[in-house]
Amino acid sequence: MRIGILTGGGDCPGLNAVIRAIVRKSVQSGDEVVGFRDGWRGVLEGDTVPMDLAAVRGILPRGGTVLGTSRTNPYALQGGGDRVLATLERLGVDALIPIGGEDTLGVATKLAEAGVRVVGVPKTIDNDLDATDYTFGFDTALGVATEAIDRLHTTGDSHHRTLVVEVMGRHAGWIALHAGMAGGATVVLIPEQPFDVDAVVEHCQRRFDSGYSPIVVVSEGAKPKDGDWVLTTGEKDAFGHVRLGGIGTALASLIEERTGRESRAVVLGHIQRGGTPSPFDRVLATRFGLAAHDAVHAGETGVMVALRGTDIVRVALTEATAQLKLVPVERYAEVEVFFG
Ligand code: F6P
Repeated sequence: MRIGILTGGGDCPGLNAVIRAIVRKSVQSGDEVVGFRDGWRGVLEGDTVPMDLAAVRGILPRGGTVLGTSRTNPYALQGGGDRVLATLERLGVDALIPIGGEDTLGVATKLAEAGVRVVGVPKTIDNDLDATDYTFGFDTALGVATEAIDRLHTTGDSHHRTLVVEVMGRHAGWIALHAGMAGGATVVLIPEQPFDVDAVVEHCQRRFDSGYSPIVVVSEGAKPKDGDWVLTTGEKDAFGHVRLGGIGTALASLIEERTGRESRAVVLGHIQRGGTPSPFDRVLATRFGLAAHDAVHAGETGVMVALRGTDIVRVALTEATAQLKLVPVERYAEVEVFFG
């Protein structure tokens, strides 16, 4: 069997572990693996790389993706869908395993509807894909964000200033919620709960009054109750997502003005996405890769592998991409207990 693989969207620690697992299992079962470079761009242009044992040697602990990635959306291009189908046909690809988030898997869903045998693997550090308990990459990002908060506590307390940490999380505040809880943040602000600026300032003030300095953890997608996203540029990607970033800096100057104490913003940005994956992410990614290969061999299509409890299961791609997994109110209420 000839299996095509690609990685699409933002990179994520653990992608190489998935690739390695698919290739290792394929070699064992006598399959051939074709890697498409840079996500859907590689499929559109027929840009491929043969994936054999040598190609995956040593990549398990490496961040990023050896295949490269892009946010190319074939369906945003004239005749793009047909070009993808033509490449798969020309290269004799029997099944495709796209590894990606909501956008990449959205394209996968359309291809499955067009008759391509597709098994998706979910990926995003934001952990906002529905139908899976966790996505790999999230645990690594969480580790980076938590370590940053731990470090910021000591410098903040020494200087008696507020430190605002902006973390990733466009629509869902999972990284902020978990890192804020693990790191003992004074306030955690997430996209799902528009925040009241007065309440944020009050929590910071209370923290100063107790003799310590506040740490505010804010998702890049968090918005004030009476405002909108803070954007550095208005630039959009091929899936129509605007580039976020800037809420941390805006909040830091506001808190400084209102508390009368110095404030600094730290934007963790792509540090959360780069580097070596945590053991949890390596194991989850490896199990996803093995399960995707099994699903292809079982003749499945239009499905995605997912983590439910400790089991890897298959779910319909349509179910996985129908809605995002947002932070429920009761999970936010748990971290609110520690505000101030
Ligand atoms: O989707 C994951 C994510 O990390 C989002 O939280 C963030 O908005 C986006 O990627 C930024 O990615 P890039 O800088 O690659 O466009």
